[in-house]
Amino acid sequence: MREISVKDLQTSPVKMIADDWALLTAGIPSDFNTMTVSWGGVGELWGRDVVFVFVRPQRYTREFMEKYDRFTLSFFDGGCKAEMGLCGRKSGRDTDKCAETGLVPVPFGDAVSFESAKTVLVCKKLAKWDLTPDGFLDSSIAANYAAGDYHRMYVGAIEHVYRAD
Ligand SMILES: Cc1cc2nc3c(=O)[nH]c(=O)nc-3n(C[C@H](O)[C@H](O)[C@H](O)COP(=O)(O)O)c2cc1C
Repeated sequence: MREISVKDLQTSPVKMIADDWALLTAGIPSDFNTMTVSWGGVGELWGRDVVFVFVRPQRYTREFMEKYDRFTLSFFDGGCKAEMGLCGRKSGRDTDKCAETGLVPVPFGDAVSFESAKTVLVCKKLAKWDLTPDGFLDSSIAANYAAGDYHRMYVGAIEHVYRAD
């Protein structure tokens, strides 16, 4: 993989996240968990290139987001949908997602991504907030939270971007 600037991404980050999905992987090579995400963003905040990810309280991955400083977003250019389907359906609490999918973890410094990833964003946590319904200005948003499981938003500084081609 070669390092690129986030500004050199050739695909819209909205398409990458919403349509192609990503794996959000938190933790260190000896202790990590991964889950599928299709909500989030890439942008600019506090003078830095950042990502925004949204993690519900019941996700095992959230424990790793809390415990460790870094996380990665791994993109597969529209591939690996079956693997990401599993990582978005089963929990690392009771499933070895790498064993079940064949995804091969690869260290990126202290962080972890996967051998088959095409684009990897290595991020360091900058901030977090829990969404609360009093902030919803459009009444339709509440339908996403029938169980009251409001997302925690993490803002991560993009430290490195790697691209497979
Ligand atoms: C396409 C897709 C997108 C998802 N996006 C998110 C998301 O943005 N935030 C979230 O909290 N869960 C999301 N999920 C659900 C988690 O990936 C899922 O609950 C996963 O099993 C959690 O695994 P864990 O318990 O090992 O962390 C998504 C699932 C799928 C299939």
